[in-house]
Amino acid sequence: MATIVPAAIGTPTLRIDGRAKVTGSARYPSDVAVPNAAHAFLVTSTIARGRVAGFDLAEARRVPGVLDILTHEDVAGQVQPPSAPGGKGKATTTLESDIVWHAGQIIAVVIADSYEAAREAAHKVVVRYEPQPPAASFDSPGVTLESAAAANKQSDPQVGDAAAAFAAADVKIEASYATPTQHHNPMELFTTTCLWSGDRLIIHEPSQFVHGVRAEVARQLGLNLEHVRVLSRFVGGGFGSRGGITARTAWIALAARRLNRPVKLVATRSQGFTIATYRAETRHHLRLGATPDGTLVSLSHDGWEVTSRPSTYNVSGTGTTARLYRCDNVATKVTIVHADRNTPGFMRAPPETPYLFALESAMDELAVALKLDPVELRRCNDTAVEPIHGLPYSSRNLMACFDAAAEAFGWKDRSAEPGSMRADDWLIGWGCAAATYHASISAAAARVQLTPEGSVRVETAAHDIGTGAYTVIAMIAADRLGVGVDKVSVLIGDSDLPPGGLAAGSTHTASVCTVVAKACDQIKERIAEAATRANEGPFAGADPTSLVLSQASLRAANGTSEPLDKAVARLGGVVEVYAENLPPGAPARGAHMVYHGQPAMARGSELKDQIRHSFGAQFVEVRVHALTREIRVPRAVGAFAAGTIVNPVTARSQLMGGMIWGISAALHEATEIDHARATYTNDDLAEYLVPVNADIGTVEVQFVPEEDHHVNPLGIKGIGELGTTGMNAAVANAVYHATGMRIRKLPIRIEGLLA
Ligand code: MOS
Repeated sequence: MATIVPAAIGTPTLRIDGRAKVTGSARYPSDVAVPNAAHAFLVTSTIARGRVAGFDLAEARRVPGVLDILTHEDVAGQVQPPSAPGGKGKATTTLESDIVWHAGQIIAVVIADSYEAAREAAHKVVVRYEPQPPAASFDSPGVTLESAAAANKQSDPQVGDAAAAFAAADVKIEASYATPTQHHNPMELFTTTCLWSGDRLIIHEPSQFVHGVRAEVARQLGLNLEHVRVLSRFVGGGFGSRGGITARTAWIALAARRLNRPVKLVATRSQGFTIATYRAETRHHLRLGATPDGTLVSLSHDGWEVTSRPSTYNVSGTGTTARLYRCDNVATKVTIVHADRNTPGFMRAPPETPYLFALESAMDELAVALKLDPVELRRCNDTAVEPIHGLPYSSRNLMACFDAAAEAFGWKDRSAEPGSMRADDWLIGWGCAAATYHASISAAAARVQLTPEGSVRVETAAHDIGTGAYTVIAMIAADRLGVGVDKVSVLIGDSDLPPGGLAAGSTHTASVCTVVAKACDQIKERIAEAATRANEGPFAGADPTSLVLSQASLRAANGTSEPLDKAVARLGGVVEVYAENLPPGAPARGAHMVYHGQPAMARGSELKDQIRHSFGAQFVEVRVHALTREIRVPRAVGAFAAGTIVNPVTARSQLMGGMIWGISAALHEATEIDHARATYTNDDLAEYLVPVNADIGTVEVQFVPEEDHHVNPLGIKGIGELGTTGMNAAVANAVYHATGMRIRKLPIRIEGLLA
């Protein structure tokens, strides 16, 4: 196994924060000791629609230790509502008014000396409701429909005449697919600790974007940005759930101000299902038309997504499915379905995961109809240019991924007939699917300091949500400044630091590493220029661009070198550089935007001159018991082309984790809804199923080498979400191959295979 070595980019490197995490010295936000903190407990709505007519707080106030109870009756108007996820439409409100938008909405906050007292008092809060019948989801009476394109000024990608081409096609597939509600369920609960230091608010909260939380809370409370500091040094999982603001934060801040005392909230696991976001249930209708040799001539993808009443949040994954294959006639449309639910949000490759399940299942159905190998169907429709705008992919190694994964999996031994492969009582199914995710990058800033001893300090408000951000940042600095990774200290997760962009959309490594490399390169330039301008030393009069920092020395190609301490001494001892990076294609005011908590992205899917995606191919073996229909996944193979892999150790973990999420989504995960009450019924980790070790066999990850310097100078495409995108379809396609049963609704469970 790899150890920490003087690393270059691409060297397998163990997590520099691993020891802190496994020994317990890593302080997650709610672990940070805050003296004299009072404790908050949330009261949440038991109805899904209506209004709060009143409270009886007398019994709650009698609980010893109770300090304060916030309800809309006394705090409405003191906090502006938070923004909806992605800024789409409006957020559901909480203590701003008496309106109940959804079940589990925060309607009161109880503060007490102890957690136990706050919890006891919260349970004694009596709420009088005026309920109305709620609409829970698709097909519920009372939902309203709206075009996503119209609601969010986005487009439904289309080209040619898909309907006519479908009507005329020789071979056709038409089918509907569905994915369920899912919740992120990160290990770390949704926590917030707020304290006021004079007029400055300090917030400890797990976050994927501390500058975003800072800006939102400042706006909500009417504070200057500088008067809010958000700290999130370690994060116990994100999966998208910590990307935006949620309602709790500003109320805890307000509670702390009212009491003039720090207040700490650790919401319960069950409350996390309704006070944060989730992946909404989706439906899809696909029509594929092809020539007998497999050439796609028509592709239509209609999607439906649930959201809350006031928000227009949707993921609209047709931006990906419309452009993945060569096809002259494409039509797509996404419809938002408003229900009495909390607002969904970003979760684990939000657009691609549900939409690729539909497309890559349909492609498998088309391959069956054509009697064509599913890999060959993809090859037949591979393209270097996306079909909607005719833009070239900056790089595209989809088929190289299919070939590498097929080889590793042993795909050539597959017998195509469903149910034809068997081991004793187990039906064996082999399935595959394409994975893809857009390659984007955010504006970001960083400060880097180098001492004469070769110690490096990197400061940037990046976020390590378990992905290995600490380590890749240290590796980049070590690589550029020619020192060991162990010489680099990395300070992240603090909005007082220069913004590192948001840890979401698989952009973080690209965003942060690019700006850290830029700062390091400027340090090297300063040192080299000082060395070449000097009258003494080995490089006097030399060309500064010919010098590099390596092995704690300044070096020339001919082997001449000077120790780092001598080279740095010319600059007064310590060299510090602050750098900003504004990626081409990002908004012109991107650096300003990230300081103000707004993502400033060059999105690989929205550029004018090219399209940038990472690609992969995923192969899965399932075994379905012939009698009981029990489903097992003994092995999965994924091959991925995602540009530069900075750290193969953590990259492999991320891609493997993504593949496991995919198996989880395909076979296990679903939040069950009580349709009469519009509530979540399995809102805990006992009944919200996720795979355990015994559910996951071998998961093999391969990297397909790829250089793409269009995406950014380091060629980093991002891998946080790629690994999950094809898995749902790969599992479903394998189940079809095992059983001959095409399951178009996730998750696939025993009962679905009993028919
Ligand atoms: Mo990810 S769902 O973009 O945090």
